[in-house]
Amino acid sequence: MIQTAKGTYDILPSDIHKWHYLESIIRKTCELYNYQEIRTPIFESTDLFIRGVGKSTDIVTKEMYTFKDKGNRSITLRPEGTACVVRSYVEHKLYADLNQLTKLYYMGPMFRYERMQKGRSRQFHQFGVEAIGSNDPSVDAEVIALSVNIFRQLGLKKVKVLINTLGDKESRKQYRQALIDHFKPVKEELCEDCQKRLEQNPLRILDCKVDKAHKAMKTAPMMSNYLNEDSKAFFKHVLEDLEQLGIEYEIDHSLVRGLDYYNHTVYEVITYVPGFGSQNALGGGGRYNGLVEEIGGPDVPGMGFAFGMDRLILALEAEEITIDTKDEVDVYIVSTSDKTEIYAFKLLELLRKNYIKSEKDYFNRKVKAQFKQADKLNAKFTIIIGEEELNNEQISIKNMKTQIQDVISIHNVEKEIKCRMEDYDE
Ligand code: HAM
Repeated sequence: MIQTAKGTYDILPSDIHKWHYLESIIRKTCELYNYQEIRTPIFESTDLFIRGVGKSTDIVTKEMYTFKDKGNRSITLRPEGTACVVRSYVEHKLYADLNQLTKLYYMGPMFRYERMQKGRSRQFHQFGVEAIGSNDPSVDAEVIALSVNIFRQLGLKKVKVLINTLGDKESRKQYRQALIDHFKPVKEELCEDCQKRLEQNPLRILDCKVDKAHKAMKTAPMMSNYLNEDSKAFFKHVLEDLEQLGIEYEIDHSLVRGLDYYNHTVYEVITYVPGFGSQNALGGGGRYNGLVEEIGGPDVPGMGFAFGMDRLILALEAEEITIDTKDEVDVYIVSTSDKTEIYAFKLLELLRKNYIKSEKDYFNRKVKAQFKQADKLNAKFTIIIGEEELNNEQISIKNMKTQIQDVISIHNVEKEIKCRMEDYDE
C-alpha cells in the first residue's frame, strides 16, 4: 500500500469542519482589520529564501525542499510566506504609492524538512499577515492585536504573548559583538550548530535547545542593555499601545526568533495547555525593516506574523473547544421503483439549484434501506416518490424529526420544502 510521504498527513472529511471554522475566523478577522488576501506560488527560486530568510538560518541550511527542475533551475518549496509576499510586493510594485500601508494576508501549505514530532510536520499550514510600508510602532501593536483577536474568537484561553525587541541595525550590531565576545571563550563547549552560529548569527545561540543549560547562557549579555535611544523609544511605544488595547504580554529577553530578517519588535504566542508537547509556539512574527530592499524593492519597512494552523487545530482540541458540525442534508429522496427513478434524479437537481442540500440512493437499495441511509445522513426531510402518487402529480414528504408525513403536489416542491425548512429549525 502506498502511504502518505513521511512528514505529511491527510486532512479527512471528518476533521475538515475544524479547518473551515479556523479559516473563516481568520478571513473575517483579517478583513475586519482591512487586510487583503494574497496567494503566491507554492514554489519559488531558491535564491529568494537564501536572501530573504537568511543564509545562516536552520531553514536555509537544513530544512529546505530544494530541487532542480527540468530546465536546471534551482527551485524550493516555500518554507514560509514572508519572503514570497515581499517578492510579490516588489515584483508587482505594490508600493506604487509609498504613503500607503499595504496590508496583506495569506494561508496555505509550507514545507520544511524537519524532525517529525507532535505539532511538527514537513508539510504544514500557515496563515500570516504582512503590513508593509510604515515604520509606526502602532502597526506592530495592531498586528499583535489582530493575532490575539483571532485567538479570542477561537476561544483559546491558555495562550501567552511573549515579546522582545532586537533594536535597530545599529543596536543589533553592538549586541552581536557583545555576544561574540561573551561566547568565544567557551566556543569549544557549545554544540556544533552554535559554534557555527557564533560567527554567522550569534543571536541564535540564545534560543538553542541543546546548550540551554550551559552556564554561559545565564550570564549572556541582554539586548536591552545595547538598545540605543531610538530603539528604546520604539519598543516603549509598542508596549504602551498594547496596554491601551488591553493586550497582556510578557517581555522575554531571550526571544530572538529563527529568521534573519527581524529587527525591533519580535513576538511569539505560546500555548501552556497541559499535554501540548514541546512544540508550543503557535506562531509569531516581528518587524523586518530592510527585507524589502534586500529583495530588490525600495527601502520600506514591514511587520507581520505567521501562525501554524496545524498547531492551532491541536490547541483547539487540547482546550476541548468543540466546533459545531453541520453534517446533515436537508432532503433525502427515496425512490420506490425504476419508473420513479428518473423523476427522482430530476428533482434532486432542481432542489440543488434552489440551494437545498439533497441526496439520493445510488445503490438500488430497497425503500427500508434508503430510509436507513437518510437517517445516517441526518436528513431533515425525506421525499418519497411512489408510482401511483407520481401519476397523480403528487409526492410524499416526511419530517424526520416529527415523523409526520404529508402528500404534496409535485409543482413548486422547492418552495414547499423551503417553507418547511424554516419551521423545522424553530
Ligand atoms: P516561524 O516562526 O518560522 O515564522 O513560523 C511560524 C509558525 O509556523 C510557528 O510558530 C509554528 O506554529 C508554525 N510552524 C513552523 N514550522 C512548522 C512545522 N514544521 N510544523 C508545523 N508547524 C510549523 C515564520 O514563518 C515567519 N514568516 C513569520 C513572520 C511573518 N514574520 C513576519 N511575518
